[in-house]
Amino acid sequence: MQTLSQEIRQLAREKNAVILAHYYTEGAVQDVADFVGDSLALAQKAAQTDADVIVMCGVHFMGETCKILCPDKLVLIPDATATCSLAESCPAEEFAAFVKAHPGHKVLSYVNTSAATKAVTDVVVTSGNARRIVESFPADQPLIFGPDRNLGAYLNSVTGRQMLLWDGCCHVHQRFSLAALQELKAAHPEAKVLVHPECPAALVQLADEVGSTAALLKYALASDSEEFLVVTESGILHEMQQKAPGKRFIPVPSTEGPGCNTCNYMRQITLPKLRDCLLQGAPAIEVDAAVAAKALLPIQRMLELSK
Ligand code: 13P
Ligand code: SF4
Repeated sequence: MQTLSQEIRQLAREKNAVILAHYYTEGAVQDVADFVGDSLALAQKAAQTDADVIVMCGVHFMGETCKILCPDKLVLIPDATATCSLAESCPAEEFAAFVKAHPGHKVLSYVNTSAATKAVTDVVVTSGNARRIVESFPADQPLIFGPDRNLGAYLNSVTGRQMLLWDGCCHVHQRFSLAALQELKAAHPEAKVLVHPECPAALVQLADEVGSTAALLKYALASDSEEFLVVTESGILHEMQQKAPGKRFIPVPSTEGPGCNTCNYMRQITLPKLRDCLLQGAPAIEVDAAVAAKALLPIQRMLELSK
Protein backbone atom coordinates (compact mmCIF):
# COMPACT_ATOMS: atom_id res chain seq x y z
CA MET A 1 0.00 0.00 0.00
CA GLN A 2 1.59 3.27 -1.17
CA THR A 3 1.50 6.38 0.96
CA LEU A 4 0.10 9.56 -0.60
CA SER A 5 3.61 10.97 -0.82
CA GLN A 6 4.89 7.85 -2.62
CA GLU A 7 1.95 8.03 -5.02
CA ILE A 8 2.77 11.69 -5.75
CA ARG A 9 6.45 10.90 -6.39
CA GLN A 10 5.49 8.06 -8.74
CA LEU A 11 3.05 10.28 -10.66
CA ALA A 12 5.70 13.01 -10.93
CA ARG A 13 8.12 10.46 -12.45
CA GLU A 14 5.52 9.14 -14.89
CA LYS A 15 4.55 12.63 -16.09
CA ASN A 16 8.10 14.05 -16.05
CA ALA A 17 6.85 16.70 -13.64
CA VAL A 18 8.91 18.85 -11.30
CA ILE A 19 7.23 19.79 -8.02
CA LEU A 20 8.21 23.24 -6.75
CA ALA A 21 7.08 24.36 -3.27
CA HIS A 22 7.28 27.62 -1.36
CA TYR A 23 8.50 27.65 2.25
CA TYR A 24 5.03 28.73 3.42
CA THR A 25 3.29 25.53 2.31
CA GLU A 26 2.61 22.85 4.89
CA GLY A 27 5.55 20.62 5.86
CA ALA A 28 4.22 17.48 4.12
CA VAL A 29 4.01 19.38 0.82
CA GLN A 30 7.55 20.73 1.22
CA ASP A 31 8.79 17.20 1.98
CA VAL A 32 7.36 15.71 -1.23
CA ALA A 33 8.62 18.52 -3.49
CA ASP A 34 11.68 18.33 -5.75
CA PHE A 35 12.65 21.83 -4.74
CA VAL A 36 11.62 24.20 -1.94
CA GLY A 37 12.53 27.87 -2.10
CA ASP A 38 11.67 31.54 -1.86
CA SER A 39 9.89 33.40 -4.63
CA LEU A 40 13.13 34.22 -6.46
CA ALA A 41 14.52 30.69 -6.33
CA LEU A 42 11.19 29.23 -7.52
CA ALA A 43 11.17 31.54 -10.56
CA GLN A 44 14.83 30.71 -11.28
CA LYS A 45 14.15 27.00 -10.99
CA ALA A 46 11.13 27.21 -13.32
CA ALA A 47 13.18 29.09 -15.90
CA GLN A 48 15.81 26.31 -15.91
CA THR A 49 13.79 23.12 -15.72
CA ASP A 50 13.67 20.58 -18.54
CA ALA A 51 10.61 18.81 -17.04
CA ASP A 52 7.46 18.68 -19.22
CA VAL A 53 5.20 19.67 -16.34
CA ILE A 54 5.75 22.18 -13.52
CA VAL A 55 3.57 21.79 -10.43
CA MET A 56 3.62 24.99 -8.41
CA CYS A 57 2.86 24.32 -4.76
CA GLY A 58 2.40 27.95 -3.89
CA VAL A 59 -0.04 30.70 -4.75
CA HIS A 60 -1.51 31.70 -8.10
CA PHE A 61 0.93 34.49 -9.02
CA MET A 62 3.81 32.01 -8.61
CA GLY A 63 2.14 29.68 -11.10
CA GLU A 64 1.61 32.61 -13.48
CA THR A 65 5.30 33.52 -13.26
CA CYS A 66 6.21 29.92 -14.19
CA LYS A 67 3.76 29.92 -17.11
CA ILE A 68 5.07 33.25 -18.42
CA LEU A 69 8.64 31.91 -18.26
CA CYS A 70 7.70 28.50 -19.71
CA PRO A 71 4.72 29.07 -22.04
CA ASP A 72 5.09 25.67 -23.74
CA LYS A 73 5.01 23.67 -20.52
CA LEU A 74 1.97 22.48 -18.62
CA VAL A 75 1.96 24.48 -15.37
CA LEU A 76 -0.29 23.01 -12.70
CA ILE A 77 -1.36 24.40 -9.33
CA PRO A 78 -3.09 22.05 -6.87
CA ASP A 79 -5.70 24.72 -6.01
CA ALA A 80 -6.32 27.51 -8.52
CA THR A 81 -8.20 29.54 -5.88
CA ALA A 82 -5.01 29.92 -3.79
CA THR A 83 -4.52 33.64 -4.38
CA CYS A 84 -2.59 36.28 -2.40
CA SER A 85 -3.99 39.25 -0.49
CA LEU A 86 -0.97 41.36 -1.48
CA ALA A 87 -1.37 40.65 -5.20
CA GLU A 88 -5.08 41.38 -4.86
CA SER A 89 -4.37 44.71 -3.19
CA CYS A 90 -3.08 45.95 -6.56
CA PRO A 91 -5.69 45.62 -9.34
CA ALA A 92 -3.97 46.03 -12.71
CA GLU A 93 -6.19 48.82 -14.09
CA GLU A 94 -5.80 50.93 -10.93
CA PHE A 95 -2.04 50.37 -10.89
CA ALA A 96 -1.84 51.30 -14.60
CA ALA A 97 -3.71 54.55 -13.85
CA PHE A 98 -1.28 55.30 -10.96
CA VAL A 99 1.67 54.72 -13.30
CA LYS A 100 0.10 56.94 -15.98
CA ALA A 101 -0.45 59.71 -13.44
CA HIS A 102 3.31 59.79 -12.69
CA PRO A 103 5.15 60.10 -16.00
CA GLY A 104 8.94 59.84 -15.97
CA HIS A 105 8.97 57.13 -13.30
CA LYS A 106 10.37 53.63 -13.76
CA VAL A 107 8.07 51.00 -12.29
CA LEU A 108 9.22 48.26 -9.93
CA SER A 109 6.70 45.61 -8.93
CA TYR A 110 7.06 42.97 -6.30
CA VAL A 111 6.65 39.46 -7.70
CA ASN A 112 3.45 39.18 -5.60
CA THR A 113 1.35 40.70 -8.39
CA SER A 114 -0.92 39.41 -11.14
CA ALA A 115 0.47 38.97 -14.66
CA ALA A 116 -1.61 42.00 -15.74
CA THR A 117 0.08 44.20 -13.11
CA LYS A 118 3.50 42.90 -14.15
CA ALA A 119 2.59 43.89 -17.71
CA VAL A 120 2.70 47.60 -16.68
CA THR A 121 6.02 47.14 -14.85
CA ASP A 122 9.63 47.83 -15.90
CA VAL A 123 11.32 45.39 -13.49
CA VAL A 124 9.91 42.74 -11.17
CA VAL A 125 11.63 42.25 -7.80
CA THR A 126 11.39 39.78 -4.93
CA SER A 127 12.45 40.41 -1.34
CA GLY A 128 15.61 38.46 -2.22
CA ASN A 129 16.82 40.96 -4.82
CA ALA A 130 14.77 44.15 -4.33
CA ARG A 131 17.52 46.26 -2.75
CA ARG A 132 20.05 45.37 -5.44
CA ILE A 133 17.56 46.14 -8.21
CA VAL A 134 16.48 49.47 -6.68
CA GLU A 135 20.17 50.43 -6.40
CA SER A 136 20.77 49.49 -10.05
CA PHE A 137 18.85 52.62 -11.11
CA PRO A 138 20.63 56.01 -11.22
CA ALA A 139 20.03 57.94 -7.98
CA ASP A 140 18.09 60.68 -9.81
CA GLN A 141 15.72 58.24 -11.57
CA PRO A 142 12.22 58.60 -10.05
CA LEU A 143 10.78 55.20 -9.14
CA ILE A 144 7.36 53.75 -8.40
CA PHE A 145 7.23 50.67 -6.17
CA GLY A 146 4.20 48.44 -5.76
CA PRO A 147 2.27 46.88 -4.26
CA ASP A 148 3.74 46.31 -0.77
CA ARG A 149 3.93 49.56 1.21
CA ASN A 150 5.96 47.94 3.99
CA LEU A 151 8.62 46.48 1.71
CA GLY A 152 8.63 49.76 -0.22
CA ALA A 153 9.15 51.80 2.96
CA TYR A 154 11.91 49.44 4.09
CA LEU A 155 13.65 49.79 0.70
CA ASN A 156 13.34 53.58 0.88
CA SER A 157 14.90 53.53 4.36
CA VAL A 158 17.92 51.37 3.39
CA THR A 159 18.59 52.97 0.00
CA GLY A 160 17.77 56.60 0.86
CA ARG A 161 15.35 56.70 -2.11
CA GLN A 162 11.94 58.26 -2.11
CA MET A 163 10.10 55.79 -4.29
CA LEU A 164 6.40 56.44 -4.72
CA LEU A 165 4.63 53.58 -2.98
CA TRP A 166 1.43 51.76 -3.80
CA ASP A 167 -0.65 51.32 -0.65
CA GLY A 168 -0.93 47.51 -0.54
CA CYS A 169 -0.03 44.90 2.05
CA CYS A 170 -0.11 41.22 2.94
CA HIS A 171 -2.75 40.37 5.55
CA VAL A 172 -0.41 37.86 7.25
CA HIS A 173 2.65 40.08 7.62
CA GLN A 174 0.63 43.20 8.42
CA ARG A 175 -0.87 41.65 11.56
CA PHE A 176 2.17 40.34 13.44
CA SER A 177 1.97 41.60 17.00
CA LEU A 178 4.56 44.18 18.04
CA ALA A 179 3.60 43.69 21.71
CA ALA A 180 4.12 39.91 21.43
CA LEU A 181 7.51 40.41 19.78
CA GLN A 182 8.57 42.82 22.53
CA GLU A 183 7.47 40.33 25.21
CA LEU A 184 9.27 37.44 23.52
CA LYS A 185 12.43 39.56 23.16
CA ALA A 186 12.32 40.33 26.88
CA ALA A 187 11.82 36.64 27.72
CA HIS A 188 14.56 35.48 25.29
CA PRO A 189 17.18 38.24 25.35
CA GLU A 190 19.75 36.11 23.53
CA ALA A 191 17.41 35.25 20.65
CA LYS A 192 18.01 36.76 17.21
CA VAL A 193 14.98 38.36 15.58
CA LEU A 194 14.24 37.37 11.96
CA VAL A 195 11.74 39.63 10.17
CA HIS A 196 10.32 39.53 6.66
CA PRO A 197 10.22 43.02 5.09
CA GLU A 198 6.50 42.66 4.31
CA CYS A 199 6.02 43.45 8.04
CA PRO A 200 5.35 47.00 9.29
CA ALA A 201 8.36 49.21 10.15
CA ALA A 202 7.91 48.92 13.93
CA LEU A 203 8.65 45.18 13.71
CA VAL A 204 11.40 45.55 11.10
CA GLN A 205 13.18 47.99 13.42
CA LEU A 206 13.57 45.23 16.05
CA ALA A 207 15.16 42.80 13.59
CA ASP A 208 18.66 41.36 13.64
CA GLU A 209 18.03 40.20 10.08
CA VAL A 210 15.51 41.47 7.54
CA GLY A 211 15.12 39.45 4.37
CA SER A 212 13.31 37.01 2.14
CA THR A 213 12.42 33.59 3.48
CA ALA A 214 15.64 32.18 1.99
CA ALA A 215 17.72 35.00 3.50
CA LEU A 216 16.20 34.45 6.96
CA LEU A 217 16.91 30.73 6.70
CA LYS A 218 20.50 31.35 5.59
CA TYR A 219 21.09 33.78 8.47
CA ALA A 220 19.71 31.31 11.02
CA LEU A 221 21.88 28.46 9.72
CA ALA A 222 25.04 30.58 9.72
CA SER A 223 24.40 32.19 13.11
CA ASP A 224 26.04 31.06 16.38
CA SER A 225 22.77 31.80 18.20
CA GLU A 226 20.66 28.97 19.57
CA GLU A 227 17.33 30.79 19.56
CA PHE A 228 15.41 32.78 16.97
CA LEU A 229 12.16 34.74 17.01
CA VAL A 230 10.59 34.28 13.60
CA VAL A 231 8.41 37.08 12.24
CA THR A 232 7.14 35.64 8.99
CA GLU A 233 4.67 32.98 7.89
CA SER A 234 5.27 30.01 10.18
CA GLY A 235 5.65 27.46 7.35
CA ILE A 236 9.32 28.47 7.15
CA LEU A 237 9.88 26.88 10.60
CA HIS A 238 9.60 23.45 8.98
CA GLU A 239 12.76 23.96 6.90
CA MET A 240 14.51 25.85 9.72
CA GLN A 241 13.92 23.00 12.17
CA GLN A 242 14.94 20.37 9.63
CA LYS A 243 18.17 22.14 8.69
CA ALA A 244 19.08 23.16 12.25
CA PRO A 245 17.49 20.60 14.61
CA GLY A 246 19.62 21.78 17.54
CA LYS A 247 18.33 25.35 17.38
CA ARG A 248 15.08 26.74 18.70
CA PHE A 249 12.79 28.69 16.38
CA ILE A 250 9.94 30.53 18.08
CA PRO A 251 7.08 31.74 15.86
CA VAL A 252 5.90 35.22 16.80
CA PRO A 253 2.09 35.35 16.99
CA SER A 254 -0.18 37.74 15.16
CA THR A 255 -2.43 40.28 16.85
CA GLU A 256 -5.15 37.65 16.52
CA GLY A 257 -3.18 35.15 18.56
CA PRO A 258 -0.98 32.10 18.03
CA GLY A 259 -1.76 30.08 14.91
CA CYS A 260 -2.87 33.16 12.96
CA ASN A 261 0.59 33.68 11.46
CA THR A 262 -0.16 31.26 8.62
CA CYS A 263 -1.17 32.15 5.08
CA ASN A 264 -4.58 30.60 4.45
CA TYR A 265 -3.90 30.70 0.69
CA MET A 266 -0.63 28.77 0.93
CA ARG A 267 -2.32 26.23 3.22
CA GLN A 268 -4.92 25.51 0.52
CA ILE A 269 -2.17 23.43 -1.13
CA THR A 270 -2.51 19.93 0.32
CA LEU A 271 -1.16 16.47 -0.55
CA PRO A 272 -4.54 15.11 -1.80
CA LYS A 273 -4.96 18.14 -4.10
CA LEU A 274 -1.37 17.74 -5.31
CA ARG A 275 -1.98 14.06 -6.12
CA ASP A 276 -5.27 14.88 -7.90
CA CYS A 277 -3.76 17.66 -10.00
CA LEU A 278 -0.99 15.33 -11.19
CA LEU A 279 -3.56 12.63 -11.98
CA GLN A 280 -5.93 14.98 -13.84
CA GLY A 281 -3.43 17.38 -15.41
CA ALA A 282 -5.54 20.20 -13.94
CA PRO A 283 -6.01 22.89 -12.76
CA ALA A 284 -3.58 24.38 -15.26
CA ILE A 285 -2.42 27.99 -15.20
CA GLU A 286 -3.17 29.96 -18.36
CA VAL A 287 -2.07 33.53 -19.05
CA ASP A 288 -3.43 35.64 -21.91
CA ALA A 289 -0.75 35.70 -24.62
CA ALA A 290 -0.64 39.51 -24.99
CA VAL A 291 -0.41 40.00 -21.21
CA ALA A 292 2.24 37.28 -20.93
CA ALA A 293 4.37 38.86 -23.66
CA LYS A 294 4.37 42.19 -21.76
CA ALA A 295 4.93 40.58 -18.34
CA LEU A 296 7.84 38.43 -19.57
CA LEU A 297 10.22 41.38 -20.08
CA PRO A 298 10.20 42.69 -16.48
CA ILE A 299 10.53 39.13 -15.13
CA GLN A 300 13.49 38.47 -17.44
CA ARG A 301 15.08 41.78 -16.35
CA MET A 302 14.77 40.63 -12.74
CA LEU A 303 16.41 37.28 -13.49
CA GLU A 304 19.22 39.05 -15.38
CA LEU A 305 19.82 41.47 -12.50
CA SER A 306 19.82 38.59 -9.96
CA LYS A 307 22.70 36.65 -11.57
P1 13P B 1 9.77 35.29 -0.29
O1 13P B 1 9.72 33.81 -0.27
O2 13P B 1 10.34 35.77 -1.60
O3 13P B 1 10.46 35.87 0.87
O4 13P B 1 8.26 35.83 -0.33
C1 13P B 1 7.40 35.80 0.71
C2 13P B 1 5.99 35.74 0.29
O5 13P B 1 5.15 36.31 0.88
C3 13P B 1 5.63 34.92 -0.83
O6 13P B 1 4.33 35.04 -1.03
FE1 SF4 C 1 0.52 36.57 -0.30
FE2 SF4 C 1 0.98 37.17 2.22
FE3 SF4 C 1 0.28 34.71 1.59
FE4 SF4 C 1 2.71 35.65 0.89
S1 SF4 C 1 1.95 35.30 2.98
S2 SF4 C 1 1.29 34.48 -0.39
S3 SF4 C 1 2.22 37.79 0.50
S4 SF4 C 1 -0.99 36.53 1.36
